Amino acid sequence: MPRALITGITGQDGSYLAEFLLGKGYQVTGLRRRSSTRNLHRIEHLSGLSLVEGDLTDLSSLVRVLEQTQPDEVYNLAAQSFVGSSWQQPLATSDITGLGVLRLLEAIRTVNPRIRFYQASSSEMFGKAQTVPQHEGTPFYPRSPYGVAKLFGHWITVNYRESYGIFACSGILFNHESPRRGLEFVTRKISDGVARIKLGLARQLRLGNLEARRDWGFAGDYVEAMWLMLQQPEPKDYVIATGETHTVREFVELAFAHVGLDWRDHVVVDPALFRPAEVDLLVGDASRARRELGWRPRVDFPTLVAMMVDADLERLRGGHRAGDGPGYGDVPTEGGPAPGGPTDGGPDATGDTGDDGRRMPHRDDAGREGGAPGRGPG
Ligand code: NAP
Ligand code: GDD
Repeated sequence: MPRALITGITGQDGSYLAEFLLGKGYQVTGLRRRSSTRNLHRIEHLSGLSLVEGDLTDLSSLVRVLEQTQPDEVYNLAAQSFVGSSWQQPLATSDITGLGVLRLLEAIRTVNPRIRFYQASSSEMFGKAQTVPQHEGTPFYPRSPYGVAKLFGHWITVNYRESYGIFACSGILFNHESPRRGLEFVTRKISDGVARIKLGLARQLRLGNLEARRDWGFAGDYVEAMWLMLQQPEPKDYVIATGETHTVREFVELAFAHVGLDWRDHVVVDPALFRPAEVDLLVGDASRARRELGWRPRVDFPTLVAMMVDADLERLRGGHRAGDGPGYGDVPTEGGPAPGGPTDGGPDATGDTGDDGRRMPHRDDAGREGGAPGRGPG
């Protein structure tokens, strides 16, 4: 049985990738960092998943986890991934999102250089895009501390491949969304806002730059590409994208129209949510992935918007489910992990053995992005 270690297991992609690899018969371990509050809502429904404690800022924890779990494949999804926050916390972002990749590669080099390594690189590295569409050969021009940190992670992955022969791939993924997306990202902020307004729980949705264009796909489709990269005869870097671009305004229009509302009655543009430097246009050319991996996206843009709005409507109406919205194969949980759900195992066990039987609030129920004074984390 192949063994995989996923960092960033509590995040959106970690949950979909774990689901995918468990379905393929992998023994999957997720690395989670210590948290003072429970943050397992995206993975509670997964049975057979093991958890270990570690942190990308702590090399010794990474070495120990690799020694204990002996993975064949490591997927590095952990990051401070919110671009807006990277201006508020540039040093922490660089440490986790940039240097964290190097720490993990050093741990792999030390413990077992035959481990296959996937790095979650980002279209944010293209930033002020030098070609349209963007492909593997497009020059990078990052526009945020996050983008700069990801660029370090990308090049150190390439460098360890070329220096030490490690099977290391950098997946340059364009934006991918789902009902499991964090509430601070614009698509989920919109789907949550639309659902609240539809249900009479809110009247307004405050947003920043509506003219930014992104290539948005479905996260469930994108994790398959991560796995495919590590199954190839040679390690390479791949752009993963839909090839379509849409403005934030189009996302807003579709999301409101889906519930029979006119967005112009509810959306307020707040200059405080504009970013110090914006990435205006992202659209990817995933021809290499199509040709060499046989990968293509399955969920189109209107389906993605409708899926996210419907999931938030259901959640806010009280039909909260673990992981994501209705119709995507998840299991409702009322009192904690599904039977046989994630286990914190081994000497690194977190001691987090399930909850106390009360219904756990969805972390994202805590509220929506607040409007901070000045240029906030739009
Ligand atoms: P996400 O939901 O924000 O998840 C990030 C994960 O990283 C969380 O599990 C978080 O744990 C963990 N993490 C943060 N700091 C850590 C640390 N110091 N040590 C260990 N774990 C840490 O992000 P996502 O959307 O799933 O994205 C996954 C990866 O793909 C990220 O690297 C992101 O930058 C990259 N990416 C995402 C997209 C996209 O559109 N989603 C596109 C391109 C690239 P906590 O729960 O403890 O915070
Ligand atoms: N978050 C947010 N909140 N963004 C807003 C808002 C708002 O209220 N209003 C407008 N936007 C615009 C942002 O200015 C940006 O141009 C766009 O919406 C998308 O913002 P996010 O959803 O925060 O995502 P991102 O593109 O900055 O970053 C995501 O995609 C990257 C890949 O390109 C993240 O997932 C990154 O981790 C990922 O690398």
